[in-house]
Amino acid sequence: MAGEWRKKYGPIVGYVLGSGKFIAICGPHEVLEVLKRDEFQGRPKHILKERSFNKPLGIFFSDGPYWVDQRRFTLRYLRDLGFGKKSMESQIMDEVEEVIKDMAQKIEFQGNGMFDVSTLNVLWRMLAGKRYSRDDNELKDLLMKLKNAFRSGSPVGRIAAILPILKHIKFGHSHSGHSEVVNTLHQLQEFFRKSIHEHKKTIDENNPRDFLDIYINEMNKQSNNPESNFTEEGLITICLDMFSAGGETTSGSLEFSLMYMVLYPQVQEAVHKELDAVVGQNRRPSLDDRPNLHYVEAVLTELLRVCSIAPVTPPHRTTKDTYINGYFIPQDTTLAICLYSLFQDKEHWGDPEVFRPERFLNSEGVYVKDDWMIPFGAGKRVCLGEGLARSTVFLFFTTLLQEFTFTVPEGDPPPSEIPLSGTVIAPQSFNVKVTKRF
Ligand code: HEM
Repeated sequence: MAGEWRKKYGPIVGYVLGSGKFIAICGPHEVLEVLKRDEFQGRPKHILKERSFNKPLGIFFSDGPYWVDQRRFTLRYLRDLGFGKKSMESQIMDEVEEVIKDMAQKIEFQGNGMFDVSTLNVLWRMLAGKRYSRDDNELKDLLMKLKNAFRSGSPVGRIAAILPILKHIKFGHSHSGHSEVVNTLHQLQEFFRKSIHEHKKTIDENNPRDFLDIYINEMNKQSNNPESNFTEEGLITICLDMFSAGGETTSGSLEFSLMYMVLYPQVQEAVHKELDAVVGQNRRPSLDDRPNLHYVEAVLTELLRVCSIAPVTPPHRTTKDTYINGYFIPQDTTLAICLYSLFQDKEHWGDPEVFRPERFLNSEGVYVKDDWMIPFGAGKRVCLGEGLARSTVFLFFTTLLQEFTFTVPEGDPPPSEIPLSGTVIAPQSFNVKVTKRF
């Protein structure tokens, strides 16, 4: 849609939905500029209030000094816990080995959902020190709830989160899905609250085990400060932010990576060749191999470009009156920033519609970065989980391809490259045939 709007109206498009005024930033140069400028980094105030106890809590949908404080605290301590760094590697690899065990018992499997448990486990282990088995009913239930609340399966519910007017409109026989979303949110909040209470009972303040312990320690330290930003409700909302922002985006990226390997066997063969030469078969790939795996890096970047998992950023808000390209934008305008416009720009890429990892390699086969590749956003709102997501996708992708060849099952049509729409996109249903390589 953003592409069509840009062609018809230019890179900055104003539109009205309900009683709200919105701006879509759908030109690549304008996207880069808006992400740099401070006055565009607020979040709308009318996001689904039930998500954070009728207050602007957490990181994803808060702004101002509270957001700066919570984001900084969370990032600092997650980094201390090894977030996105080498020390996370063995925890990610535990999950990779589980998936390999699972795949090794199969001839064919459904690609969709294959990585849901693993990616949530990586997050939950860091937040709460706990992981679930791939067939754990509690986790499966939690995943279903998350999918219902945040995926394209419940689009109206998601839109209602941003546009309160839709809550009251009837769609066919049911309401907008709003009450279903709120119900699910309450169940998720209760799950996080229960984990926090369990932590409170067993915490050793001198020996924090995970992020929940660290945050609870800070809550206790500031318990006599009536102005404290550290509350149980705030912590519940941060957990919700991490699950909703980090689960589907990472698992979806992995699903797309499998799907494209099946669709482009010549690319898969080149990945196998590079992995055999650099890593071999006697050990697992590690993050240290990354600088030597140029083709793999090019494939992963091209996947982020062509799939654009988060095509548009979550809504931003102007925090003061401002201008862009000479257009006046009043304070409190909600903005949709189309990252997609960077990844699909014809002038920049030449053939943006083609899946071609080689575009990120120079004539010596060395990976070359491109400044327009910002699938995690940029500036002060840049994705908090970028390092973790990149490490997770790299370790899963390389280890699975070291071990297996993936093809379209006999008799199945090739998977469709047209994704399911939503604020986070996902592949349509597809099956994969798996064969051990050695
Ligand atoms: C392939 C995986 C991922 C992609 C493509 C992705 C992409 C993004 C994008 C585009 C944004 C919005 C930036 C903006 O509003 O301008 C964002 C924000 C965010 N992401 Fe991610 N993300 C991924 C994985 C993760 C993971 C694993 C986590 C959790 C650990 C995470 C946590 C967050 C949070 C908390 C924010 C809000 C930051 C803020 O508003 O200050 N993301 N992400």
